[in-house]
Amino acid sequence: MNPATPRRVEHQLTDKGYVPVYTTAVVEQPWASYSATDHEVWATLFARQHALLPGRACDEYLQALDAMAMPADRIPKFDDLNRLLRRATGWELVGVEGLLPELTFFDHLAHRRFPVTWWIRRPDQLDYISEPDLFHDLFGHVPLLMHPVFADYMQAYGQGGVKAHAIGPEALVNLTRLYWYTVEFGLIAQRDGLRIYGSGIVSSKGESIYCLESDAPNRIGFDLERIMRTRYRIDTYQKTYFVIESFEQLFEATRPDFAPLYARLAQLPSYPAGTVLDGDRVYHRGTGEGWLKDGDV
Ligand code: PHE
Ligand code: FE
Repeated sequence: MNPATPRRVEHQLTDKGYVPVYTTAVVEQPWASYSATDHEVWATLFARQHALLPGRACDEYLQALDAMAMPADRIPKFDDLNRLLRRATGWELVGVEGLLPELTFFDHLAHRRFPVTWWIRRPDQLDYISEPDLFHDLFGHVPLLMHPVFADYMQAYGQGGVKAHAIGPEALVNLTRLYWYTVEFGLIAQRDGLRIYGSGIVSSKGESIYCLESDAPNRIGFDLERIMRTRYRIDTYQKTYFVIESFEQLFEATRPDFAPLYARLAQLPSYPAGTVLDGDRVYHRGTGEGWLKDGDV
């Protein structure tokens, strides 16, 4: 179904104030209707991140980005990327108007469909936009869908989401934190140092630098239960990043049934976003890794 004229998101007045309202329908990417400005926004963001990410993003991401050969000067066509993706891992991109209701989103992932917002941000939003747009979704999320283990993880997450949704809202909160601290803001320890794999970071110039080079945030070893208990910030760079050793580690750690974990976590308090606990495995900038001692907490 193709919108007759491409529609920007509408805002609707509800009892929570104005909230963005999107159609949950899959929409055809209205490629011919992108303006010269839209293509320029893509070109600017693409060039900026492409120059910044070698030595910062993980090898798997950079290799996949290369393999996808997204055009630098114009917005990619979903159909072109889909030919590659389907062959590599069986994933496919579907166009959407914006953020989806949770269950709709999970159902797409569970069927190896990745929803991509069809519209791109305005030129005055290059550095920050408060909701996902085409650049975040495509440049941030799509390359790693070429990676077999990450591709499986994303599908498993979708299946886990359908399950958590049936269990209840607290389970969903726990599971959403896992997505946030891995898919969106994950770091990975590579042989030669810390690298980025989270899409929220690779699509952001400021956070690509900050997450690795600032001393301010915590960089803590991956710990499933800990992640599920840690609140996160949507309005600033992260206070804490969780570091995986490999995508295999991530996939294996999340393989068990989460139902008992959700039940246990329901009895426990959550941690503020910036909490560091005694005994946390802390990763320092560069390659260093150490253990927190008493008093560092
Ligand atoms: N093992 C999880 C469950 O039982 C499913 C899942 C896998 C969730 C991978 C997230 C990531 O719910
Ligand atoms: Fe995202």
